Amino acid sequence: MSGETRKAAITGFPVDQSRSPLVHGYWLKKHGLDGEYGRVSVTPERADAFYEDFAASGLIGANVTVPHKEVAAAACAHLDDAAKAMGAANTLWLDETGALCGANTDGLGFLGNLDQLAPGWDPSNGTAVVMGAGGAARAIIWALLSRGFTAVHIVNRTFEKAKVLEYQFGSKTKAYAWDKLGTLLGETDLLVNTTALGMTGKASLKIDLEPLPVSALVTDIVYVPLETDLLKQAQKRGNKTVDGLGMLLHQAVPGFERWFGVRPEVDKELRDLVL
Ligand code: ATR
Repeated sequence: MSGETRKAAITGFPVDQSRSPLVHGYWLKKHGLDGEYGRVSVTPERADAFYEDFAASGLIGANVTVPHKEVAAAACAHLDDAAKAMGAANTLWLDETGALCGANTDGLGFLGNLDQLAPGWDPSNGTAVVMGAGGAARAIIWALLSRGFTAVHIVNRTFEKAKVLEYQFGSKTKAYAWDKLGTLLGETDLLVNTTALGMTGKASLKIDLEPLPVSALVTDIVYVPLETDLLKQAQKRGNKTVDGLGMLLHQAVPGFERWFGVRPEVDKELRDLVL
């Protein structure tokens, strides 16, 4: 590595489990670039100071994971529309003046994954049901609205959290309690699970898909296991499904391109490597 080596990292707390170094490391090697991508653990007490003085870290950019996405956004001089709407940034870089800039690419990652795994499927003017109301749901709702969905129903165990998203995103969104899911499915073009249910080690997501049109696309952001019970159940009745691994991979694309100057691809080898 020369003195010119460009360094980026995943920052957050904790960062040991993050697959981001594997993803960026794969692309750096594939493209033969003089760059490094590591892990920087930033304890919550240090987070404000770290992002406020990001230039002192020696990094040209970073990804941000929980619980620092909001703190990082607050430290940015410039934010893209998604980060502004969410008040949270997952991708940082320094501009030519040294000012910290932030983007939120989680929603783009979700759409990039759909576009790759369900090519030709046109989600505009549709109705979506999003299960869950956490950070991932927020990014996905933003993405769906930006893509032209006319209605996004948010179903969550804690109704109040879904209601907060409804207030934030406005009239095309509506919050529902979990027991209303069955009545919503009949009018659904896209069903998205953003809860942790179905993940290895967690309870399974048990819902009756009977009212769901067979034309609806079913997606899960859980990717361990890759084929969740929800996706298996949907496939069995003929629905097309999209697994969650690609969202993780596609959200990394814009950061890599900005830091290292090459737009990388999400290919099969990368999917196999990260699993
Ligand atoms: P993320 O940032 O990945 O979205 P999160 O903010 O912790 O993670 O959100 C997790 C989501 O999964 C929430 O919508 C949560 O529901 P609550 O708002 O009621 O907590 C949902 N979730 C987690 N465990 C759940 C369970 N056992 N049953 C139903 N929903 C669950």
